[in-house]
Amino acid sequence: MNPTQENKFYELYLEYFHKAEDRRRWNLQRDIPWNEIGRAPDPGIVQVVQSFMAVELYLPDYTSKILHLIRASRGRAWFQANWGYEESKHSLALEMWLTRSGSRTDKQIREFEEVILGREWNLPYDTPLEMMLYTTLQEFATGLNYRGLRKVAQASNDPALDKVLALLARDEVGHFQFFKDGVKIYMEHDRERVVEALNFVIHTFRMPAMDIIPDGKENGELIGRLGIFDDRIYLRDVVRPVLQSLGISVEELREARRRLNAASRSIGLAPAEAGKQR
Ligand SMILES: [Fe+2]
Ligand SMILES: [Fe+2]
Repeated sequence: MNPTQENKFYELYLEYFHKAEDRRRWNLQRDIPWNEIGRAPDPGIVQVVQSFMAVELYLPDYTSKILHLIRASRGRAWFQANWGYEESKHSLALEMWLTRSGSRTDKQIREFEEVILGREWNLPYDTPLEMMLYTTLQEFATGLNYRGLRKVAQASNDPALDKVLALLARDEVGHFQFFKDGVKIYMEHDRERVVEALNFVIHTFRMPAMDIIPDGKENGELIGRLGIFDDRIYLRDVVRPVLQSLGISVEELREARRRLNAASRSIGLAPAEAGKQR
């Protein structure tokens, strides 16, 4: 990354940070009406909350591995540290709801954590650009997941859960905006390469840790049945708006795919690899 791009990332981080300090910070003990928490939550909702907590629990892997990839970029590295702080609150909030609602005991949570942290999450992509594209989609999708669960949970009339999900969804929107603006910085420099990498990431995207969390498949099916997230929702409510926010049309994406397929045929490499060779 050249110094101009680097400076832009740093400016983007400062803007993100000041905005977060000014308007988005929240307090885990004070800002959630814990005394109004529901006492007999729906088991399906409990299951989904626990699976979201599981995804948030891979924080040590997310922060350390991504930080290592971008350590030379001050804007991105400082963002990552700040992001880690915010994500750490997400798992705490979900855990507090699980225990305070009586859905799980402290002992059950500790045992669950042990299983979670016994497995390691690895980066799904190996370049900073692909990882930024992945996190752009993933943060948007995570926000959508929290909003979807909030809607499903509305009927259970639990003001504490409602507030937790609203705060988490708002944080995820902030994260998405940083990554999306970061992708735009890459686009100013080499738009074609970004669109080609995006084409690859869109088609290989999976929510983080789904293959390593306990009961990942069953949880995924439950989340689909509740209408919170599935492949169709991903294409319609994640890919489409993310493309729009980046100013990339479906046609431009298709064009990138055609270019990559042609390049891969001529040099005998998979399309994604052919993109990296350019
Ligand atoms: Fe989060
Ligand atoms: Fe996030």
